[in-house]
Amino acid sequence: MALYDWKDDYSVGVARFDNHHKRLFDIANQLHEMMKLGRGADVIEPVLRDLIEYTRYHLAEEEKAMETIGYSDIAAHKWAHKIFTDQLNAAAAEVDQGKTIFVVIKIAKTVIDWLINHIYGIDKKYTPEMNAGGIR
Ligand SMILES: [Fe+2]
Repeated sequence: MALYDWKDDYSVGVARFDNHHKRLFDIANQLHEMMKLGRGADVIEPVLRDLIEYTRYHLAEEEKAMETIGYSDIAAHKWAHKIFTDQLNAAAAEVDQGKTIFVVIKIAKTVIDWLINHIYGIDKKYTPEMNAGGIR
């Protein structure tokens, strides 16, 4: 059974971003499985980098969509992304230093905890404006 289960209640009402969020759950679950199976850093590292890269990609795509529709709360939302991106950058630097196993233990949980809080805290607020702007 997967550690992190997606729930329909996590939907932000924009299919493309729900799919991004689901993919982040999938990668975090993959990492958890690899840790359980005792896989080595060489196997884990590419997946860990994928989690970090895909999170960055997702945040950037959300911001692009917000810009496209002229989202009313874009500044606060971008700021929340920026704070989290700083954490990701720190984690990426630790991976670069060869601390893969140390990073993987905390980062998968950090990403999922942050994501669920972020979805409920502010992502869900953009649904009406995104949908009205043609982003679904
Ligand atoms: Fe967001």
